[in-house]
Amino acid sequence: MTNIGTKIYSGKAKDIYSTNNEYEVIVKFRDDITAGDGERKDNFQGKGKYNSLISSKLFEILEESNINTQYIKLIENCSILSKNLKMIPLEVICRNIATGSLLKKFPFEKAQKLKVPIIQMDYKNDEYHDPMLNDDIAIALKIATQDELNQIRTITLKINKILSEFLKEKGILLVDFKLEFGKDLKENIVLGDEISPDTCRFWNIETLKTLDKDSFRQGQNQNEVMSIYQQVCTMIVDENDLKKWKI
Ligand SMILES: Nc1ncnc2c1ncn2[C@@H]1O[C@H](COP(=O)(O)OP(=O)(O)O)[C@@H](O)[C@H]1O
Ligand SMILES: [Mg+2]
Repeated sequence: MTNIGTKIYSGKAKDIYSTNNEYEVIVKFRDDITAGDGERKDNFQGKGKYNSLISSKLFEILEESNINTQYIKLIENCSILSKNLKMIPLEVICRNIATGSLLKKFPFEKAQKLKVPIIQMDYKNDEYHDPMLNDDIAIALKIATQDELNQIRTITLKINKILSEFLKEKGILLVDFKLEFGKDLKENIVLGDEISPDTCRFWNIETLKTLDKDSFRQGQNQNEVMSIYQQVCTMIVDENDLKKWKI
Protein backbone atom coordinates (compact mmCIF):
# COMPACT_ATOMS: atom_id res chain seq x y z
CA MET A 1 0.00 0.00 0.00
CA THR A 2 1.39 3.38 -1.01
CA ASN A 3 0.93 6.22 1.44
CA ILE A 4 0.98 9.75 0.08
CA GLY A 5 3.66 11.79 1.87
CA THR A 6 4.58 15.44 1.68
CA LYS A 7 4.54 17.65 -1.39
CA ILE A 8 8.15 17.89 -2.55
CA TYR A 9 7.67 20.01 -5.68
CA SER A 10 4.93 22.09 -7.19
CA GLY A 11 5.36 23.05 -10.85
CA LYS A 12 3.13 24.84 -13.35
CA ALA A 13 0.75 21.91 -13.87
CA LYS A 14 1.72 19.08 -11.52
CA ASP A 15 2.69 18.39 -7.91
CA ILE A 16 5.17 15.72 -6.83
CA TYR A 17 4.55 13.91 -3.53
CA SER A 18 6.87 11.61 -1.63
CA THR A 19 5.62 8.16 -0.59
CA ASN A 20 6.60 5.70 2.12
CA ASN A 21 8.95 4.15 -0.49
CA GLU A 22 12.02 6.26 -1.31
CA TYR A 23 12.10 4.80 -4.86
CA GLU A 24 8.61 6.06 -5.67
CA VAL A 25 6.76 9.38 -5.93
CA ILE A 26 3.23 10.36 -6.83
CA VAL A 27 2.89 12.68 -9.83
CA LYS A 28 -0.38 14.55 -9.34
CA PHE A 29 -1.83 16.35 -12.36
CA ARG A 30 -3.63 19.61 -11.49
CA ASP A 31 -6.22 21.44 -13.60
CA ASP A 32 -3.92 24.46 -14.11
CA ILE A 33 -3.08 25.42 -17.68
CA THR A 34 -0.39 27.91 -18.73
CA ALA A 35 0.95 29.31 -22.00
CA GLY A 36 3.61 31.70 -23.24
CA ASP A 37 6.38 30.91 -20.72
CA GLY A 38 3.80 30.96 -17.91
CA GLU A 39 2.41 34.40 -18.86
CA ARG A 40 -1.16 33.14 -19.39
CA LYS A 41 -2.68 31.08 -16.61
CA ASP A 42 -6.07 29.46 -16.13
CA ASN A 43 -7.71 26.52 -14.39
CA PHE A 44 -9.80 24.15 -16.51
CA GLN A 45 -11.72 21.54 -14.57
CA GLY A 46 -11.03 18.02 -15.82
CA LYS A 47 -7.63 18.71 -17.37
CA GLY A 48 -5.69 16.84 -14.66
CA LYS A 49 -7.89 13.79 -15.09
CA TYR A 50 -7.57 13.73 -18.90
CA ASN A 51 -3.79 14.30 -18.87
CA SER A 52 -3.12 11.62 -16.25
CA LEU A 53 -5.16 9.06 -18.22
CA ILE A 54 -3.59 9.98 -21.58
CA SER A 55 -0.07 9.94 -20.08
CA SER A 56 -0.68 6.58 -18.39
CA LYS A 57 -1.85 4.99 -21.63
CA LEU A 58 1.14 6.32 -23.59
CA PHE A 59 3.60 5.24 -20.86
CA GLU A 60 2.03 1.75 -20.96
CA ILE A 61 2.49 1.59 -24.75
CA LEU A 62 6.15 2.57 -24.35
CA GLU A 63 6.75 0.06 -21.52
CA GLU A 64 5.33 -2.69 -23.77
CA SER A 65 8.09 -1.77 -26.25
CA ASN A 66 10.77 -1.93 -23.53
CA ILE A 67 11.24 1.81 -23.01
CA ASN A 68 12.22 2.49 -19.40
CA THR A 69 9.64 4.97 -18.07
CA GLN A 70 8.70 6.31 -14.64
CA TYR A 71 5.26 4.72 -14.90
CA ILE A 72 4.18 2.28 -12.18
CA LYS A 73 0.40 2.71 -12.14
CA LEU A 74 -2.47 5.14 -12.19
CA ILE A 75 -3.68 5.22 -8.58
CA GLU A 76 -6.52 7.71 -8.89
CA ASN A 77 -7.82 9.74 -11.77
CA CYS A 78 -5.21 12.52 -11.39
CA SER A 79 -2.29 10.68 -9.82
CA ILE A 80 0.35 8.40 -11.26
CA LEU A 81 2.56 6.35 -8.95
CA SER A 82 5.98 6.85 -10.56
CA LYS A 83 9.64 6.06 -10.08
CA ASN A 84 11.42 8.76 -8.09
CA LEU A 85 13.81 10.40 -10.56
CA LYS A 86 16.56 12.97 -10.32
CA MET A 87 15.43 15.06 -13.27
CA ILE A 88 17.85 16.15 -16.00
CA PRO A 89 17.06 19.82 -16.79
CA LEU A 90 16.52 19.30 -20.51
CA GLU A 91 13.40 19.65 -22.62
CA VAL A 92 13.93 17.07 -25.34
CA ILE A 93 11.80 18.05 -28.31
CA CYS A 94 11.17 15.77 -31.27
CA ARG A 95 9.55 17.14 -34.43
CA ASN A 96 8.00 15.39 -37.42
CA ILE A 97 6.34 18.48 -38.90
CA ALA A 98 7.62 22.06 -38.78
CA THR A 99 5.36 24.27 -36.70
CA GLY A 100 5.33 26.42 -33.55
CA SER A 101 8.56 28.01 -32.36
CA LEU A 102 10.61 26.29 -35.09
CA LEU A 103 8.92 28.59 -37.66
CA LYS A 104 9.80 31.68 -35.64
CA LYS A 105 13.47 30.74 -35.43
CA PHE A 106 14.19 29.13 -38.81
CA PRO A 107 12.99 29.41 -42.43
CA PHE A 108 10.95 26.21 -42.56
CA GLU A 109 7.69 26.21 -44.44
CA LYS A 110 4.54 26.13 -42.32
CA ALA A 111 3.46 22.50 -41.68
CA GLN A 112 6.39 21.22 -43.77
CA LYS A 113 6.85 17.48 -43.29
CA LEU A 114 10.39 16.83 -42.07
CA LYS A 115 12.01 13.96 -43.98
CA VAL A 116 14.03 13.00 -40.90
CA PRO A 117 12.72 13.84 -37.40
CA ILE A 118 14.44 16.79 -35.73
CA ILE A 119 15.58 16.49 -32.12
CA GLN A 120 16.10 19.76 -30.32
CA MET A 121 17.20 20.18 -26.74
CA ASP A 122 16.31 23.20 -24.60
CA TYR A 123 17.78 23.98 -21.19
CA LYS A 124 14.86 23.67 -18.73
CA ASN A 125 15.42 26.79 -16.67
CA ASP A 126 12.74 29.43 -15.99
CA GLU A 127 15.29 32.16 -15.19
CA TYR A 128 16.91 31.78 -18.62
CA HIS A 129 13.57 31.09 -20.38
CA ASP A 130 14.51 27.58 -21.59
CA PRO A 131 17.11 28.47 -24.28
CA MET A 132 18.05 25.95 -26.96
CA LEU A 133 21.44 24.35 -26.32
CA ASN A 134 23.81 21.92 -28.00
CA ASP A 135 25.80 18.95 -26.70
CA ASP A 136 28.89 21.03 -25.87
CA ILE A 137 26.90 23.46 -23.72
CA ALA A 138 25.04 20.63 -21.95
CA ILE A 139 28.34 18.86 -21.21
CA ALA A 140 30.10 22.07 -20.07
CA LEU A 141 27.19 22.81 -17.70
CA LYS A 142 27.43 19.20 -16.41
CA ILE A 143 23.78 18.62 -17.32
CA ALA A 144 24.66 15.30 -18.97
CA THR A 145 27.63 13.43 -20.42
CA GLN A 146 28.07 12.82 -24.16
CA ASP A 147 27.10 9.19 -23.62
CA GLU A 148 23.92 10.20 -21.77
CA LEU A 149 23.02 12.72 -24.50
CA ASN A 150 23.49 10.01 -27.13
CA GLN A 151 21.29 7.64 -25.12
CA ILE A 152 18.59 10.31 -24.74
CA ARG A 153 18.64 10.96 -28.47
CA THR A 154 18.38 7.27 -29.36
CA ILE A 155 15.55 6.65 -26.86
CA THR A 156 13.65 9.73 -28.09
CA LEU A 157 13.79 8.57 -31.72
CA LYS A 158 12.54 5.15 -30.64
CA ILE A 159 9.70 6.74 -28.66
CA ASN A 160 8.81 8.83 -31.72
CA LYS A 161 8.41 5.69 -33.83
CA ILE A 162 6.37 3.81 -31.23
CA LEU A 163 4.02 6.69 -30.43
CA SER A 164 3.62 7.82 -34.06
CA GLU A 165 2.50 4.33 -35.06
CA PHE A 166 0.17 3.87 -32.09
CA LEU A 167 -1.45 7.29 -32.51
CA LYS A 168 -1.83 6.92 -36.28
CA GLU A 169 -4.05 3.88 -35.68
CA LYS A 170 -6.15 6.03 -33.36
CA GLY A 171 -6.55 8.76 -36.00
CA ILE A 172 -3.96 11.13 -34.54
CA LEU A 173 -0.91 12.62 -36.25
CA LEU A 174 2.04 13.09 -33.88
CA VAL A 175 3.38 16.46 -35.05
CA ASP A 176 5.92 17.07 -32.27
CA PHE A 177 6.40 16.47 -28.55
CA LYS A 178 8.55 17.33 -25.54
CA LEU A 179 10.05 14.77 -23.18
CA GLU A 180 11.85 15.04 -19.85
CA PHE A 181 14.25 12.39 -18.64
CA GLY A 182 15.67 11.68 -15.21
CA LYS A 183 17.93 9.19 -13.49
CA ASP A 184 16.78 6.50 -11.10
CA LEU A 185 18.77 5.65 -7.98
CA LYS A 186 20.98 3.35 -10.08
CA GLU A 187 21.73 6.24 -12.51
CA ASN A 188 19.73 4.66 -15.36
CA ILE A 189 18.16 7.14 -17.79
CA VAL A 190 14.38 6.92 -17.40
CA LEU A 191 11.56 8.78 -19.17
CA GLY A 192 9.70 10.97 -16.66
CA ASP A 193 7.18 13.79 -16.49
CA GLU A 194 4.14 13.42 -18.81
CA ILE A 195 3.03 12.77 -22.39
CA SER A 196 -0.19 14.67 -22.93
CA PRO A 197 -1.90 17.36 -25.03
CA ASP A 198 0.03 19.85 -22.85
CA THR A 199 3.38 18.55 -24.09
CA CYS A 200 2.61 17.15 -27.56
CA ARG A 201 1.15 18.49 -30.77
CA PHE A 202 -1.59 16.14 -31.92
CA TRP A 203 -3.49 16.78 -35.17
CA ASN A 204 -6.56 14.95 -36.41
CA ILE A 205 -5.03 12.77 -39.12
CA GLU A 206 -7.76 13.61 -41.66
CA THR A 207 -8.77 17.20 -40.94
CA LEU A 208 -5.41 18.31 -39.43
CA LYS A 209 -7.45 20.02 -36.69
CA THR A 210 -5.51 20.81 -33.49
CA LEU A 211 -6.07 18.29 -30.66
CA ASP A 212 -3.79 19.80 -28.00
CA LYS A 213 -2.84 22.88 -25.96
CA ASP A 214 -2.46 24.98 -29.13
CA SER A 215 -6.26 25.34 -28.81
CA PHE A 216 -5.65 27.28 -25.56
CA ARG A 217 -2.70 29.21 -27.04
CA GLN A 218 -4.97 30.25 -29.93
CA GLY A 219 -7.59 31.57 -27.51
CA GLN A 220 -10.30 28.90 -27.54
CA ASN A 221 -12.48 28.91 -24.41
CA GLN A 222 -12.55 26.45 -21.51
CA ASN A 223 -15.34 24.29 -22.96
CA GLU A 224 -13.66 24.05 -26.34
CA VAL A 225 -10.22 23.24 -24.92
CA MET A 226 -11.55 20.62 -22.48
CA SER A 227 -13.69 18.98 -25.14
CA ILE A 228 -10.49 18.56 -27.22
CA TYR A 229 -8.63 16.95 -24.26
CA GLN A 230 -11.62 14.67 -23.62
CA GLN A 231 -11.68 13.72 -27.31
CA VAL A 232 -8.01 12.67 -27.23
CA CYS A 233 -8.68 10.70 -24.05
CA THR A 234 -11.57 8.77 -25.61
CA MET A 235 -9.60 8.22 -28.84
CA ILE A 236 -6.67 6.50 -27.12
CA VAL A 237 -7.66 5.18 -23.67
CA ASP A 238 -9.28 1.70 -23.48
CA GLU A 239 -13.04 1.68 -22.99
CA ASN A 240 -12.96 -0.16 -19.65
CA ASP A 241 -10.49 2.41 -18.27
CA LEU A 242 -12.69 5.28 -19.47
CA LYS A 243 -15.57 3.69 -17.56
CA LYS A 244 -13.45 2.96 -14.50
CA TRP A 245 -12.23 6.57 -14.28
CA LYS A 246 -15.65 8.03 -15.21
CA ILE A 247 -14.78 9.79 -18.48
N1 LIG B 1 9.31 10.87 -11.85
C1 LIG B 1 9.66 12.08 -11.40
N2 LIG B 1 10.39 12.21 -10.26
C2 LIG B 1 10.74 13.44 -9.81
N3 LIG B 1 10.41 14.60 -10.43
C3 LIG B 1 9.69 14.53 -11.56
C4 LIG B 1 9.28 13.27 -12.10
N4 LIG B 1 8.59 13.52 -13.26
C5 LIG B 1 8.57 14.83 -13.41
N5 LIG B 1 9.24 15.48 -12.42
C6 LIG B 1 9.43 16.95 -12.26
O1 LIG B 1 8.28 17.46 -11.59
C7 LIG B 1 7.84 18.68 -12.17
C8 LIG B 1 6.49 18.44 -12.79
O2 LIG B 1 5.66 19.49 -12.67
P1 LIG B 1 5.33 20.56 -13.79
O3 LIG B 1 4.12 21.19 -13.28
O4 LIG B 1 5.35 20.01 -15.16
O5 LIG B 1 6.60 21.49 -13.54
P2 LIG B 1 7.33 22.60 -14.40
O6 LIG B 1 6.56 23.84 -14.22
O7 LIG B 1 8.68 22.62 -13.75
O8 LIG B 1 7.38 22.08 -15.81
C9 LIG B 1 8.85 19.04 -13.25
O9 LIG B 1 9.82 19.92 -12.74
C10 LIG B 1 9.46 17.69 -13.60
O10 LIG B 1 10.78 17.83 -14.09
MG1 LIG C 1 6.20 20.77 -16.92
